[in-house]
Amino acid sequence: MDTENQATSTDWGPFGRPLFNDPQSRALSRVGVVDVGSNSVRLVVFDGAARSPAYFFNEKIMCGLGEGLSETGRLNPQGRVRALAAIRRFQRLAEGMDTGPLTAVATAAVRDAEDGPEFRDLVEDQTGLRLHVIDGTEEARLSAQGVLLGWPGSYGLVCDIGGASMELAEIEKGRVGKRVSSPLGPLRLKWIKGGKKARKAHIKGILTDLHEKMGDQHNRLFLVGGSWRAIAKIDMERRGYPLHVLHEYRMSRKAVFATARFIKENDPEELRNRCGVSSSRMALVPIAIEVLKEVVKTFGPRDIAVSSYGIREGMLYEQMPQQLRDRDPLIEACRFAEAKDARLPGFGRTLYHFIEPLFHSARDERKRLIRAACLLHDVTWRAHPDYRAELCFDNATRANLGGLKHSERIFLGLALLHRYSNTRKGTRFEPLYELLPEKDQQAAEVLGKAMRFGAMLWLDREAKPGKLVLRPKKKVLELRLTPESTPLFGEVAEARFQSLADALGATPEVHTAA
Ligand code: LMR
Ligand code: MG
Repeated sequence: MDTENQATSTDWGPFGRPLFNDPQSRALSRVGVVDVGSNSVRLVVFDGAARSPAYFFNEKIMCGLGEGLSETGRLNPQGRVRALAAIRRFQRLAEGMDTGPLTAVATAAVRDAEDGPEFRDLVEDQTGLRLHVIDGTEEARLSAQGVLLGWPGSYGLVCDIGGASMELAEIEKGRVGKRVSSPLGPLRLKWIKGGKKARKAHIKGILTDLHEKMGDQHNRLFLVGGSWRAIAKIDMERRGYPLHVLHEYRMSRKAVFATARFIKENDPEELRNRCGVSSSRMALVPIAIEVLKEVVKTFGPRDIAVSSYGIREGMLYEQMPQQLRDRDPLIEACRFAEAKDARLPGFGRTLYHFIEPLFHSARDERKRLIRAACLLHDVTWRAHPDYRAELCFDNATRANLGGLKHSERIFLGLALLHRYSNTRKGTRFEPLYELLPEKDQQAAEVLGKAMRFGAMLWLDREAKPGKLVLRPKKKVLELRLTPESTPLFGEVAEARFQSLADALGATPEVHTAA
Protein backbone atom coordinates (compact mmCIF):
# COMPACT_ATOMS: atom_id res chain seq x y z
CA MET A 1 0.00 0.00 0.00
CA ASP A 2 1.18 3.49 -0.73
CA THR A 3 2.57 4.94 2.46
CA GLU A 4 1.02 8.35 1.99
CA ASN A 5 -2.49 6.95 1.60
CA GLN A 6 -1.98 4.71 4.53
CA ALA A 7 -1.03 7.75 6.53
CA THR A 8 -4.16 9.70 5.71
CA SER A 9 -6.54 6.85 6.20
CA THR A 10 -5.58 5.58 9.63
CA ASP A 11 -2.46 6.69 11.38
CA TRP A 12 -3.15 10.34 11.71
CA GLY A 13 -6.78 10.09 12.65
CA PRO A 14 -9.81 10.55 10.49
CA PHE A 15 -8.97 14.14 9.65
CA GLY A 16 -5.55 13.49 8.17
CA ARG A 17 -4.31 16.76 9.51
CA PRO A 18 -3.73 18.41 12.88
CA LEU A 19 -6.97 19.36 14.50
CA PHE A 20 -5.79 22.57 16.05
CA ASN A 21 -6.00 24.09 12.59
CA ASP A 22 -9.76 23.82 12.95
CA PRO A 23 -11.39 27.16 13.72
CA GLN A 24 -13.48 25.44 16.38
CA SER A 25 -10.48 24.35 18.38
CA ARG A 26 -8.43 27.39 17.57
CA ALA A 27 -10.99 29.35 19.52
CA LEU A 28 -9.59 27.52 22.53
CA SER A 29 -6.14 28.89 21.91
CA ARG A 30 -5.74 30.57 25.27
CA VAL A 31 -8.05 29.58 28.08
CA GLY A 32 -7.78 30.94 31.61
CA VAL A 33 -9.32 29.24 34.64
CA VAL A 34 -9.34 30.18 38.30
CA ASP A 35 -9.79 27.63 41.09
CA VAL A 36 -10.71 29.13 44.45
CA GLY A 37 -9.96 26.23 46.78
CA SER A 38 -9.88 25.89 50.54
CA ASN A 39 -6.09 25.83 50.67
CA SER A 40 -5.08 27.63 47.55
CA VAL A 41 -6.29 30.01 44.87
CA ARG A 42 -4.86 29.32 41.46
CA LEU A 43 -4.81 30.75 37.97
CA VAL A 44 -3.93 28.50 35.06
CA VAL A 45 -3.74 29.76 31.50
CA PHE A 46 -3.59 27.03 28.89
CA ASP A 47 -2.04 27.75 25.56
CA GLY A 48 -1.66 26.02 22.27
CA ALA A 49 -5.18 24.91 21.47
CA ALA A 50 -3.93 21.36 21.52
CA ARG A 51 -5.27 18.19 23.05
CA SER A 52 -2.30 18.30 25.39
CA PRO A 53 -2.26 21.73 26.97
CA ALA A 54 0.82 23.85 27.44
CA TYR A 55 0.87 25.82 30.69
CA PHE A 56 1.24 29.36 29.54
CA PHE A 57 0.82 30.57 33.08
CA ASN A 58 0.31 28.76 36.36
CA GLU A 59 0.29 30.50 39.73
CA LYS A 60 -0.85 29.24 43.07
CA ILE A 61 -1.28 31.25 46.23
CA MET A 62 -1.86 29.41 49.49
CA CYS A 63 -4.62 31.65 50.87
CA GLY A 64 -6.09 29.24 53.41
CA LEU A 65 -9.72 30.28 52.91
CA GLY A 66 -10.86 27.12 54.68
CA GLU A 67 -8.53 27.47 57.66
CA GLY A 68 -10.68 27.49 60.81
CA LEU A 69 -13.91 26.92 58.88
CA SER A 70 -14.90 23.92 61.01
CA GLU A 71 -14.58 25.96 64.15
CA THR A 72 -16.17 29.20 63.09
CA GLY A 73 -18.34 28.21 60.15
CA ARG A 74 -16.86 31.16 58.31
CA LEU A 75 -14.11 31.82 55.81
CA ASN A 76 -10.78 32.66 57.30
CA PRO A 77 -10.70 36.49 57.59
CA GLN A 78 -7.09 36.74 56.48
CA GLY A 79 -7.73 34.17 53.78
CA ARG A 80 -10.51 36.38 52.41
CA VAL A 81 -8.15 39.31 52.09
CA ARG A 82 -5.47 37.23 50.43
CA ALA A 83 -7.89 35.49 48.07
CA LEU A 84 -9.40 38.78 47.01
CA ALA A 85 -5.94 40.21 46.31
CA ALA A 86 -5.00 37.06 44.37
CA ILE A 87 -8.13 37.26 42.22
CA ARG A 88 -7.55 40.93 41.55
CA ARG A 89 -4.04 40.13 40.38
CA PHE A 90 -5.28 37.24 38.22
CA GLN A 91 -7.93 39.37 36.55
CA ARG A 92 -5.34 41.98 35.71
CA LEU A 93 -2.88 39.38 34.37
CA ALA A 94 -5.56 37.78 32.22
CA GLU A 95 -6.28 41.07 30.52
CA GLY A 96 -2.68 41.25 29.37
CA MET A 97 -2.62 37.62 28.30
CA ASP A 98 -5.63 37.90 26.05
CA THR A 99 -7.40 34.92 27.52
CA GLY A 100 -10.89 36.28 27.14
CA PRO A 101 -13.03 36.14 30.28
CA LEU A 102 -11.69 33.83 33.00
CA THR A 103 -13.81 30.92 34.14
CA ALA A 104 -13.75 30.64 37.91
CA VAL A 105 -14.94 27.96 40.28
CA ALA A 106 -15.01 28.00 44.05
CA THR A 107 -15.07 24.75 46.01
CA ALA A 108 -15.59 23.49 49.58
CA ALA A 109 -14.65 26.56 51.64
CA VAL A 110 -16.84 29.07 49.79
CA ARG A 111 -19.55 26.45 49.32
CA ASP A 112 -19.81 25.63 53.02
CA ALA A 113 -18.99 28.90 54.79
CA GLU A 114 -21.78 31.07 56.12
CA ASP A 115 -20.21 34.09 54.50
CA GLY A 116 -19.53 32.25 51.23
CA PRO A 117 -22.33 33.97 49.26
CA GLU A 118 -21.31 37.34 50.61
CA PHE A 119 -17.70 36.69 49.66
CA ARG A 120 -18.73 35.67 46.17
CA ASP A 121 -20.65 38.94 45.75
CA LEU A 122 -17.74 40.94 47.11
CA VAL A 123 -15.35 39.31 44.61
CA GLU A 124 -17.68 40.08 41.74
CA ASP A 125 -18.23 43.61 42.92
CA GLN A 126 -14.55 44.37 43.38
CA THR A 127 -12.95 42.42 40.56
CA GLY A 128 -15.71 41.70 38.08
CA LEU A 129 -15.06 37.95 38.34
CA ARG A 130 -18.08 35.77 38.93
CA LEU A 131 -17.26 32.70 41.02
CA HIS A 132 -19.22 29.58 40.20
CA VAL A 133 -19.66 27.94 43.54
CA ILE A 134 -19.87 24.29 42.63
CA ASP A 135 -21.22 21.46 44.73
CA GLY A 136 -19.15 18.44 45.75
CA THR A 137 -20.32 16.13 42.99
CA GLU A 138 -19.60 18.74 40.34
CA GLU A 139 -16.15 19.21 41.85
CA ALA A 140 -15.65 15.45 41.63
CA ARG A 141 -16.81 15.41 38.03
CA LEU A 142 -14.50 18.20 36.92
CA SER A 143 -11.49 16.72 38.59
CA ALA A 144 -12.21 13.32 37.04
CA GLN A 145 -12.45 15.03 33.68
CA GLY A 146 -9.02 16.48 34.32
CA VAL A 147 -7.72 12.95 34.82
CA LEU A 148 -9.30 11.96 31.51
CA LEU A 149 -7.30 14.66 29.82
CA GLY A 150 -4.15 12.74 30.66
CA TRP A 151 -5.50 9.18 30.53
CA PRO A 152 -8.17 9.06 27.86
CA GLY A 153 -10.21 5.89 27.98
CA SER A 154 -9.01 4.83 31.41
CA TYR A 155 -10.71 3.00 34.27
CA GLY A 156 -10.44 3.68 37.96
CA LEU A 157 -11.30 5.80 40.95
CA VAL A 158 -10.30 9.45 41.05
CA CYS A 159 -9.66 10.80 44.54
CA ASP A 160 -9.25 14.56 44.81
CA ILE A 161 -8.20 15.99 48.16
CA GLY A 162 -8.53 19.69 48.83
CA GLY A 163 -8.34 21.65 52.06
CA ALA A 164 -11.91 21.17 53.21
CA SER A 165 -13.21 18.22 51.21
CA MET A 166 -12.29 15.03 49.43
CA GLU A 167 -14.08 13.87 46.33
CA LEU A 168 -14.31 10.48 44.68
CA ALA A 169 -15.34 9.80 41.10
CA GLU A 170 -15.45 6.63 39.09
CA ILE A 171 -14.12 6.67 35.56
CA GLU A 172 -14.96 3.99 33.11
CA LYS A 173 -14.19 3.76 29.40
CA GLY A 174 -13.15 7.38 29.46
CA ARG A 175 -16.39 8.59 31.03
CA VAL A 176 -17.15 9.88 34.50
CA GLY A 177 -19.51 7.62 36.48
CA LYS A 178 -20.60 7.71 40.14
CA ARG A 179 -19.36 10.58 42.28
CA VAL A 180 -19.38 11.54 45.94
CA SER A 181 -18.05 14.33 48.09
CA SER A 182 -16.94 14.10 51.72
CA PRO A 183 -15.62 16.38 54.45
CA LEU A 184 -12.28 14.52 54.54
CA GLY A 185 -10.14 17.60 53.95
CA PRO A 186 -7.15 18.01 56.30
CA LEU A 187 -8.21 21.53 57.34
CA ARG A 188 -11.42 20.07 58.69
CA LEU A 189 -9.96 16.94 60.19
CA LYS A 190 -7.56 19.03 62.28
CA TRP A 191 -10.51 19.99 64.45
CA ILE A 192 -11.76 16.54 65.30
CA LYS A 193 -11.56 16.19 69.07
CA GLY A 194 -10.13 13.18 70.88
CA GLY A 195 -6.70 12.95 69.25
CA LYS A 196 -5.39 10.67 66.58
CA LYS A 197 -7.47 7.66 67.53
CA ALA A 198 -10.74 9.54 67.35
CA ARG A 199 -9.71 11.06 64.05
CA LYS A 200 -8.90 7.67 62.62
CA ALA A 201 -12.30 6.33 63.66
CA HIS A 202 -13.95 9.38 62.15
CA ILE A 203 -12.12 8.96 58.83
CA LYS A 204 -12.90 5.26 58.77
CA GLY A 205 -16.58 5.87 59.43
CA ILE A 206 -16.87 8.31 56.55
CA LEU A 207 -14.97 6.02 54.20
CA THR A 208 -17.23 3.09 55.03
CA ASP A 209 -20.12 5.25 53.98
CA LEU A 210 -18.35 6.37 50.79
CA HIS A 211 -17.56 2.75 49.98
CA GLU A 212 -21.23 1.88 50.25
CA LYS A 213 -22.13 4.65 47.84
CA MET A 214 -19.35 3.98 45.35
CA GLY A 215 -19.33 0.18 45.50
CA ASP A 216 -16.17 -1.85 45.01
CA GLN A 217 -13.46 0.03 43.14
CA HIS A 218 -10.40 -2.09 42.68
CA ASN A 219 -9.04 -0.50 39.53
CA ARG A 220 -6.37 2.13 39.57
CA LEU A 221 -6.63 4.89 42.15
CA PHE A 222 -5.83 8.30 40.64
CA LEU A 223 -4.63 10.85 43.17
CA VAL A 224 -5.43 14.52 42.50
CA GLY A 225 -4.59 17.48 44.73
CA GLY A 226 -1.66 19.28 46.30
CA SER A 227 -1.61 17.26 49.51
CA TRP A 228 -1.37 13.96 47.62
CA ARG A 229 1.37 15.42 45.46
CA ALA A 230 3.34 16.36 48.58
CA ILE A 231 3.00 12.76 49.80
CA ALA A 232 4.22 11.49 46.44
CA LYS A 233 7.28 13.73 46.68
CA ILE A 234 8.06 12.26 50.07
CA ASP A 235 7.54 8.74 48.73
CA MET A 236 10.03 9.49 45.94
CA GLU A 237 12.55 10.71 48.49
CA ARG A 238 12.07 7.61 50.65
CA ARG A 239 12.67 5.30 47.67
CA GLY A 240 15.43 7.36 46.08
CA TYR A 241 13.34 7.46 42.92
CA PRO A 242 15.40 9.12 40.17
CA LEU A 243 12.77 10.86 38.01
CA HIS A 244 11.23 13.89 39.67
CA VAL A 245 8.04 14.02 37.65
CA LEU A 246 4.82 13.71 39.63
CA HIS A 247 2.40 13.09 36.82
CA GLU A 248 2.01 9.31 36.27
CA TYR A 249 4.13 8.55 39.32
CA ARG A 250 3.07 5.15 40.65
CA MET A 251 2.89 3.95 44.22
CA SER A 252 2.06 0.52 45.52
CA ARG A 253 -0.33 0.04 48.45
CA LYS A 254 2.60 -1.06 50.55
CA ALA A 255 4.49 2.12 49.68
CA VAL A 256 1.70 4.24 51.15
CA PHE A 257 2.14 2.56 54.54
CA ALA A 258 5.93 2.70 54.36
CA THR A 259 5.73 6.42 53.57
CA ALA A 260 3.32 6.99 56.46
CA ARG A 261 5.96 5.51 58.77
CA PHE A 262 8.69 7.50 57.07
CA ILE A 263 6.77 10.73 57.70
CA LYS A 264 6.34 9.85 61.35
CA GLU A 265 10.02 9.01 61.81
CA ASN A 266 11.43 12.12 60.19
CA ASP A 267 11.63 15.71 61.32
CA PRO A 268 8.98 17.54 59.27
CA GLU A 269 11.08 20.63 58.73
CA GLU A 270 14.05 18.68 57.51
CA LEU A 271 11.88 16.40 55.39
CA ARG A 272 10.04 19.22 53.68
CA ASN A 273 13.30 20.89 52.73
CA ARG A 274 14.64 17.68 51.27
CA CYS A 275 11.48 17.11 49.25
CA GLY A 276 10.65 20.66 48.24
CA VAL A 277 7.33 20.91 50.09
CA SER A 278 6.11 24.27 51.44
CA SER A 279 5.57 24.65 55.17
CA SER A 280 1.85 25.34 54.84
CA ARG A 281 1.52 22.14 52.83
CA MET A 282 3.70 20.14 55.18
CA ALA A 283 1.37 21.06 58.02
CA LEU A 284 -1.39 19.11 56.24
CA VAL A 285 0.64 16.07 55.25
CA PRO A 286 0.41 14.05 58.50
CA ILE A 287 -3.38 14.24 58.35
CA ALA A 288 -3.58 13.69 54.60
CA ILE A 289 -1.55 10.49 54.87
CA GLU A 290 -3.99 9.16 57.49
CA VAL A 291 -6.77 9.70 54.97
CA LEU A 292 -4.81 8.06 52.18
CA LYS A 293 -4.11 4.99 54.29
CA GLU A 294 -7.83 4.56 54.94
CA VAL A 295 -8.71 5.15 51.28
CA VAL A 296 -6.25 2.44 50.28
CA LYS A 297 -7.49 0.03 52.96
CA THR A 298 -11.11 0.63 52.03
CA PHE A 299 -10.84 0.28 48.26
CA GLY A 300 -7.76 -1.92 47.80
CA PRO A 301 -6.78 -0.44 44.45
CA ARG A 302 -4.74 -2.49 41.96
CA ASP A 303 -2.28 0.38 41.71
CA ILE A 304 -2.00 4.04 42.57
CA ALA A 305 -1.06 6.83 40.16
CA VAL A 306 -0.56 10.53 40.77
CA SER A 307 -2.31 12.86 38.35
CA SER A 308 -1.16 16.44 38.13
CA TYR A 309 -4.24 17.04 36.06
CA GLY A 310 -7.31 17.88 38.12
CA ILE A 311 -10.12 20.35 38.33
CA ARG A 312 -8.40 23.07 36.24
CA GLU A 313 -7.62 20.68 33.42
CA GLY A 314 -11.16 19.35 33.78
CA MET A 315 -12.47 22.83 33.08
CA LEU A 316 -10.39 22.95 29.91
CA TYR A 317 -11.55 19.48 28.86
CA GLU A 318 -15.11 20.67 29.39
CA GLN A 319 -14.59 23.28 26.69
CA MET A 320 -13.08 20.89 24.14
CA PRO A 321 -15.15 19.49 21.32
CA GLN A 322 -15.49 15.69 21.49
CA GLN A 323 -13.37 15.23 18.36
CA LEU A 324 -10.49 16.92 20.12
CA ARG A 325 -10.99 14.93 23.33
CA ASP A 326 -10.74 11.72 21.35
CA ARG A 327 -7.25 12.47 20.17
CA ASP A 328 -4.07 11.16 21.73
CA PRO A 329 -2.60 13.87 23.99
CA LEU A 330 0.94 12.64 23.45
CA ILE A 331 0.78 12.73 19.66
CA GLU A 332 -0.95 16.09 19.71
CA ALA A 333 1.76 17.59 21.92
CA CYS A 334 4.53 16.17 19.74
CA ARG A 335 2.89 17.35 16.57
CA PHE A 336 2.60 20.79 18.07
CA ALA A 337 6.29 20.76 19.03
CA GLU A 338 7.24 19.65 15.53
CA ALA A 339 5.19 22.41 13.91
CA LYS A 340 6.79 24.97 16.19
CA ASP A 341 10.42 23.86 16.31
CA ALA A 342 11.42 21.37 13.61
CA ARG A 343 13.25 22.56 10.51
CA LEU A 344 10.98 20.63 8.19
CA PRO A 345 7.63 20.17 9.88
CA GLY A 346 5.94 17.16 8.31
CA PHE A 347 9.15 15.18 7.87
CA GLY A 348 8.46 13.39 11.18
CA ARG A 349 5.59 11.61 9.53
CA THR A 350 7.67 10.65 6.47
CA LEU A 351 10.38 9.38 8.79
CA TYR A 352 7.85 7.32 10.74
CA HIS A 353 6.62 5.57 7.62
CA PHE A 354 10.15 5.00 6.46
CA ILE A 355 11.32 3.27 9.65
CA GLU A 356 8.02 1.61 10.57
CA PRO A 357 8.91 -1.71 8.78
CA LEU A 358 11.57 -2.26 11.45
CA PHE A 359 8.89 -2.27 14.11
CA HIS A 360 5.86 -3.75 12.44
CA SER A 361 5.41 -6.43 15.07
CA ALA A 362 5.49 -3.78 17.84
CA ARG A 363 2.36 -3.36 19.95
CA ASP A 364 0.24 -0.22 19.57
CA GLU A 365 1.59 1.32 22.79
CA ARG A 366 5.07 1.07 21.36
CA LYS A 367 4.05 2.36 17.95
CA ARG A 368 2.70 5.57 19.39
CA LEU A 369 6.03 6.17 21.11
CA ILE A 370 7.82 5.59 17.81
CA ARG A 371 5.52 8.08 16.16
CA ALA A 372 6.11 10.57 18.98
CA ALA A 373 9.89 10.14 18.67
CA CYS A 374 9.78 10.77 14.92
CA LEU A 375 7.79 13.95 15.43
CA LEU A 376 10.34 15.12 17.99
CA HIS A 377 13.45 13.92 16.17
CA ASP A 378 14.50 17.38 15.00
CA VAL A 379 13.00 19.80 17.50
CA THR A 380 16.31 20.46 19.30
CA TRP A 381 18.27 21.31 16.18
CA ARG A 382 19.07 24.80 17.45
CA ALA A 383 21.02 23.51 20.42
CA HIS A 384 24.79 23.15 20.30
CA PRO A 385 25.66 19.74 18.77
CA ASP A 386 27.60 18.70 21.87
CA TYR A 387 24.52 19.07 24.02
CA ARG A 388 21.78 17.93 21.69
CA ALA A 389 21.64 14.31 22.78
CA GLU A 390 21.36 15.10 26.46
CA LEU A 391 18.99 17.95 25.85
CA CYS A 392 16.66 15.63 23.94
CA PHE A 393 16.69 13.17 26.79
CA ASP A 394 15.99 15.86 29.32
CA ASN A 395 13.15 17.30 27.26
CA ALA A 396 11.44 14.00 26.74
CA THR A 397 11.71 12.87 30.33
CA ARG A 398 10.68 16.12 31.98
CA ALA A 399 8.27 17.59 29.46
CA ASN A 400 4.76 18.33 30.47
CA LEU A 401 3.22 15.47 28.51
CA GLY A 402 0.04 13.62 29.32
CA GLY A 403 -0.56 10.02 28.38
CA LEU A 404 2.98 8.89 29.08
CA LYS A 405 4.19 6.47 31.76
CA HIS A 406 7.54 7.14 33.38
CA SER A 407 9.10 4.13 31.66
CA GLU A 408 7.73 5.48 28.38
CA ARG A 409 9.34 8.83 29.05
CA ILE A 410 12.68 7.08 29.42
CA PHE A 411 12.08 5.09 26.24
CA LEU A 412 11.33 8.27 24.31
CA GLY A 413 14.29 10.05 25.90
CA LEU A 414 16.71 7.24 25.06
CA ALA A 415 15.47 6.99 21.48
CA LEU A 416 16.04 10.71 21.00
CA LEU A 417 19.41 10.51 22.71
CA HIS A 418 20.45 7.80 20.25
CA ARG A 419 19.20 9.92 17.40
CA TYR A 420 22.28 12.03 18.12
CA SER A 421 24.63 9.71 19.92
CA ASN A 422 25.76 6.12 19.48
CA THR A 423 26.31 5.58 23.15
CA ARG A 424 24.19 6.23 26.21
CA LYS A 425 27.05 5.61 28.63
CA GLY A 426 28.58 8.37 30.67
CA THR A 427 25.64 10.79 30.75
CA ARG A 428 24.32 12.25 33.96
CA PHE A 429 21.04 10.44 33.26
CA GLU A 430 22.32 6.94 33.80
CA PRO A 431 20.39 6.40 37.07
CA LEU A 432 17.16 6.98 35.11
CA TYR A 433 17.77 4.24 32.56
CA GLU A 434 16.94 1.56 35.09
CA LEU A 435 13.28 2.62 35.01
CA LEU A 436 13.21 0.89 31.62
CA PRO A 437 13.95 -2.86 31.21
CA GLU A 438 17.18 -3.65 29.37
CA LYS A 439 15.47 -5.04 26.27
CA ASP A 440 13.41 -1.88 25.92
CA GLN A 441 16.57 0.18 26.25
CA GLN A 442 17.88 -1.76 23.28
CA ALA A 443 14.68 -1.18 21.32
CA ALA A 444 15.03 2.55 22.03
CA GLU A 445 18.58 2.38 20.72
CA VAL A 446 17.40 0.75 17.48
CA LEU A 447 14.74 3.42 17.10
CA GLY A 448 17.27 6.18 17.76
CA LYS A 449 19.68 4.78 15.23
CA ALA A 450 16.93 4.35 12.68
CA MET A 451 16.01 8.03 13.08
CA ARG A 452 19.67 8.99 12.98
CA PHE A 453 20.00 7.26 9.66
CA GLY A 454 16.58 8.28 8.28
CA ALA A 455 17.28 11.93 9.02
CA MET A 456 20.13 11.73 6.48
CA LEU A 457 17.59 11.10 3.74
CA TRP A 458 16.34 14.59 4.29
CA LEU A 459 13.90 15.46 1.57
CA ASP A 460 11.03 17.78 1.11
CA ARG A 461 7.70 16.66 2.42
CA GLU A 462 6.45 15.07 -0.79
CA ALA A 463 9.54 13.09 -1.75
CA LYS A 464 10.01 9.43 -0.81
CA PRO A 465 13.21 8.47 1.00
CA GLY A 466 12.97 4.83 -0.06
CA LYS A 467 12.05 1.62 1.68
CA LEU A 468 13.49 -0.44 4.50
CA VAL A 469 12.89 -4.17 4.60
CA LEU A 470 13.94 -6.24 7.57
CA ARG A 471 14.29 -10.00 7.02
CA PRO A 472 14.75 -11.28 10.56
CA LYS A 473 15.15 -14.95 9.55
CA LYS A 474 17.93 -14.22 7.07
CA LYS A 475 19.23 -11.47 9.37
CA VAL A 476 19.31 -8.99 6.53
CA LEU A 477 18.40 -5.31 6.57
CA GLU A 478 17.61 -4.16 3.07
CA LEU A 479 17.49 -0.57 1.92
CA ARG A 480 15.83 0.27 -1.38
CA LEU A 481 16.63 3.81 -2.33
CA THR A 482 14.53 5.87 -4.72
CA PRO A 483 16.04 7.87 -7.58
CA GLU A 484 15.56 11.00 -5.49
CA SER A 485 17.18 9.61 -2.38
CA THR A 486 20.09 7.78 -4.00
CA PRO A 487 22.34 10.88 -4.12
CA LEU A 488 21.69 11.43 -0.41
CA PHE A 489 23.17 8.10 0.51
CA GLY A 490 26.72 9.32 1.07
CA GLU A 491 29.47 8.09 3.35
CA VAL A 492 27.97 9.27 6.62
CA ALA A 493 24.57 7.86 5.73
CA GLU A 494 26.23 4.57 4.92
CA ALA A 495 28.00 4.47 8.27
CA ARG A 496 24.76 5.18 10.06
CA PHE A 497 22.95 2.51 8.09
CA GLN A 498 25.67 0.06 9.06
CA SER A 499 25.34 1.05 12.70
CA LEU A 500 21.55 0.53 12.53
CA ALA A 501 22.03 -2.90 10.96
CA ASP A 502 24.52 -3.77 13.72
CA ALA A 503 22.05 -2.74 16.40
CA LEU A 504 19.54 -5.11 14.78
CA GLY A 505 22.12 -7.87 14.44
CA ALA A 506 21.57 -7.85 10.66
CA THR A 507 23.70 -7.54 7.52
CA PRO A 508 23.01 -4.39 5.51
CA GLU A 509 22.07 -4.60 1.85
CA VAL A 510 21.67 -1.51 -0.28
CA HIS A 511 19.82 -1.21 -3.59
CA THR A 512 20.32 2.10 -5.28
CA ALA A 513 18.03 3.35 -8.01
CA ALA A 514 19.33 4.51 -11.35
C1 LMR B 1 -7.77 23.29 47.67
O1 LMR B 1 -8.76 22.97 48.30
O2 LMR B 1 -7.27 24.39 47.78
C2 LMR B 1 -7.16 22.23 46.81
O3 LMR B 1 -8.00 21.87 45.79
C3 LMR B 1 -5.88 22.55 46.25
C4 LMR B 1 -4.81 22.51 47.27
O4 LMR B 1 -3.91 23.34 47.10
O5 LMR B 1 -4.83 21.69 48.18
MG1 MG C 1 -9.76 21.91 45.24
